[in-house]
Parts: sequence; C-alpha cells; structure tokens
Amino acid sequence: MEDVTRNKSAGAWDRLFFQSADEFFQGNPGLSLTYDDVSLATLYSEILPRDADYSTELAPGLRLQLPIVSADMDTVTGSRMAIALALGGGIGLIHYNMPPREQLSEVGRVKNHVHGLIREPIKVTPDHLIGDILALIEEKKYSFSTFPVVDADDTLLGLLPGHCARPRFAGRTVLEAMIPRKGVLTIREEELGADPIARADRFFTEHIGIHKLLVVDAQDRLRGLFTLSDIERITQERTLKTKPARDAKFRLLCGAAVSVTRDGAGALDRESLIGHVGALIERGLDVVAVSTAHGHTRGVGEAVRAIRDAFPDFPILAGNVTSAEGVAYLAECGVSAVKVGQGPGSICTTRIVAGVGIPQLTALYVCSKAAAAHGVRILADGGITKSGDIVKALTLADAVICGSLLAGCPEAPGRIMEINGKFYKQYRGMGSHAAMRAGSAARYGHENSPTRKSAAEGVEALKEVSASVDTVLAQLAGGLQSGMGYLGARALPDLRRKALYTRVTAAGMKESATHDIIEVKTDGE
Ligand code: XMP
Repeated sequence: MEDVTRNKSAGAWDRLFFQSADEFFQGNPGLSLTYDDVSLATLYSEILPRDADYSTELAPGLRLQLPIVSADMDTVTGSRMAIALALGGGIGLIHYNMPPREQLSEVGRVKNHVHGLIREPIKVTPDHLIGDILALIEEKKYSFSTFPVVDADDTLLGLLPGHCARPRFAGRTVLEAMIPRKGVLTIREEELGADPIARADRFFTEHIGIHKLLVVDAQDRLRGLFTLSDIERITQERTLKTKPARDAKFRLLCGAAVSVTRDGAGALDRESLIGHVGALIERGLDVVAVSTAHGHTRGVGEAVRAIRDAFPDFPILAGNVTSAEGVAYLAECGVSAVKVGQGPGSICTTRIVAGVGIPQLTALYVCSKAAAAHGVRILADGGITKSGDIVKALTLADAVICGSLLAGCPEAPGRIMEINGKFYKQYRGMGSHAAMRAGSAARYGHENSPTRKSAAEGVEALKEVSASVDTVLAQLAGGLQSGMGYLGARALPDLRRKALYTRVTAAGMKESATHDIIEVKTDGE
C-alpha cells in the first residue's frame, strides 16, 4: 500500500498538529479552552531569552516596559503596590474601595514617588538631647544615625552627623552637636530636574565624603533626603534590562479604577464621575479603568462615553467582557483597551454563582478579533497562576492583569498574619460580601446596602506571604522571556504572529507539571 504521507514536508507535519490561532480556535467551534488546555509549539529561534523585548503599549503613548498590570482589588493594589509595579516596568490600578479623596492621595503618592528620594525623613529638633536620639535609634531599630535638624515649621536648621550619636554625648543637646545650616549642602526641589537620580548621583560624585543630600523648598523647608547608598543601588539597577514605567516627566506610571456611580434616580452620576476622573488626571493619573463584572452594558458604555467626551485623548480601560461584541461595543464607546475575563480569577465564583463566563483563552481569541478590527488593545484579566500562562495569554492579548500572584507580596495592602507558624495575607474577591460592603457592590450590579443580602461572586481567602514584588516580577519576566525565546519572538507582536497551539489532555497536563519525584526546595525559592 502506498504511504500517502511519504512526501509530506517537515513543516507540513508540524502544521498537522500545531496550529495558528485562527486554525486552532476556529477549528474548535463551540469549545472554550483555558490556559492549561493548550501548549505552545517551539519554533526555530535566533532569539536568546535575555534579548526578548516584552515592552507593550496599552494606548497611544502609554507604554509599559513589562506587560503586567496589578488588579484593581482592595487586597492587591494600593499606592505601595502601584509604586512597586511601576518600578518593575508594569502598572498598578489603584482600587476604588475607598473614599474618592483617599484614592486621589493614593495616586498622588505614586506620582510623587521619586525612587531614592526619602520624602519624609526622620528629623530631630535642636532641643532634643543626644540621649533621646540614641533611645529613638534603639527603639525604632534605625540603621542610620544622621538626622536633619528642623524647627516646628520644618525649616532646616542643620544636620546631626552620625559620629555625634554616641553615649558619651548623651547629656548634650542636638544644637550643640549639629552642623549648622550654613555648613549643610542642600539642593532646591526645582533643581532636581527631570532626572532627580542622575542629579543626586552627580552631586555625590562632586562632593567627596558627603553621604546625604537634603532637598529644600524656596522657604528652606526640608522636602526630602537622598542617601549615597540608595543612589548607588538605583544607578546599578538602571543597567538592568527592565526599566521602570515612567511618564514624560519621569514620574512612575499609575492607573486607577472607578466604578459606575449612579444618582438617586439610578442614572449615571456624570458630574461626580467626571469630577473625580478630572481630579485624578490632575494628580497625574496615566490611565483610568471603568471596572465592572459586566462591561457590555449600557451603564459601562455611558460611563466610558462620558469620560471620553470630557477627556478626548486620555487612556481608558473598561470591562470586563468575554465576547467580540462586548469589545466592539466598548471600542465604539471610546475605550483604549478592554479588560477580558469573566470568572477565571482565583477568587471568582461568577461561573458557579451565575453560570456564565468563558474559559479564558477562547475568550481572549474571540475578543482579540474584535480588538484588531476596532484598533483597541485587550488585557487578559484573571486566572494567571504561572509565567507560562502569561506567555500563552500574550499570544492573544497586549498585557495581563494579576491579582492572586501579587496578593501575597509585602507590598499588597493588609497586614501579615501568622497561622500555625506560617505567614499569610488576606486576598478577597471584589464581589465577595466583605469587599462589596467596603464599596465594590456597584461593580457587580448590586446596591451598596448593608441590610440587603446580594449574591456574592467572589470569596475571601488567604495567600501565603510571598517574596517582594520585584522578585515575583523578575520570575514572571524570566519565564516570559523563556517562552519568547522558544518561539523565536524578539518582541510581543512576533509572539502573537508566530504562536502555534496544540490541545493538551489531562494526562498531558500531568506530564507538564513535575511528577514522580519528591521536590527539594532550596533556599531562596
Ligand atoms: P486572579 O486569578 O489573578 O484574578 O486572582 C484577579 C481578577 O479577578 C477578577 N475579580 C473577580 N471576579 N468575582 C469575580 O468573578 C470577584 O469577586 C472578583 N474579584 C476580582 C478581577 O478581574 C481581577 O482582576
């Protein structure tokens, strides 16, 4: 019998089993798949993982160095997380379960964060005794002993040098020991320019033996402090591949979520929405997210249109949707990028409670078609549990949104608690009863009433405390670069163009994870 496959080329064999997104997803009509259902085929590559460029654009002019966004959840993104994300090249979306005024100051904190500039240094007054200072150092476990000296109005009076903080001087006053104002080198805030770190670095090079640079305002009030060791560490960081995500004024990027506020009659409260978004933009906000569980709705459309009309060029994210029509609708309303995901999140119960939602990879494929047709971006929101999921998501999306992967980091809001010798942080769905009571009920289309019981679409959970954000991001970025290297993708558009998928069975998934071994964890993992 003739072997009909004899003349098949090597490439044809590959294409029989590993298919492009169109072939693969359209070849499975009516079937929705998620990350673990597929694997990506390796391709000829000339790209070393370390050379893979994972920068992305969420809107014209809004560029991330790393395509990772932290979720707008009250146990994930406050200013500390947003600062850490932007320093790592991504962006954080500050949640809205807080009074509007507080959200404004959270955004202000991120935008005013000059990495390396200590905004509120520990200060002393001239009447303090050196003994008091020693007690303070001991009590607070400070690793430094040099302090700016100020009066009640924060006007700079001098600097208490570290070599004076000794028990033998305990009975002497700060006034007696300090270097007086005229002997202290300072810099005016406005002289810091667009690159404060480079300016401080130059200062320390020009002034041998000086380890502290005090920043003052026009009235000579203390506004901050640079230390030589911080500046040296940051300057070294700058040679790293992933740069912080910054705006044109060298400030860290920051996003914030808003809910669709309604007036007493149930209509969109346009005035308060536009007023708040305008105030956020004044603080330097880079992108606003209209965050709801169901974005393909009149309410979300009206909110997006209102923001677009008021701020014609401002980047807007909105969601969530899982259909091409949903993307098309929000694109027509004026969004820059659409959040895709209904029910994939680790704390989500939407699919269980409401019986709706689409497994995430198919949702991304379908949405990517409408996004391309309408010239908007999409973000893969929820369900990311490992770096391999990010690689798969980015074959279809422009960035990913992570909640659970970041909720255990020390930078996430909330206290660390100890249970049976292990350390945890709280992580809760924005549709959980507790989060809805704290403000997010509107996101799930419920009233924010403590008396009325509504169906929760999320749970309250704990996450084991993890490494800090920079370590977590480095691991995720490393995995992403490996994936790009395997696919020969120099940049994310190559990844999207080249990806070939194959279906994975439960046995294939078992084979993918470590198996038949006892894993040994070494220090630092
Ligand atoms: P991960 O998997 O990263 O998902 O923890 C975070 C995303 O989940 C969404 N989210 C929810 N979805 N009920 C839901 O159905 C909830 O209570 C809930 N809270 C958050 C949200 O899109 C987030 O970015």
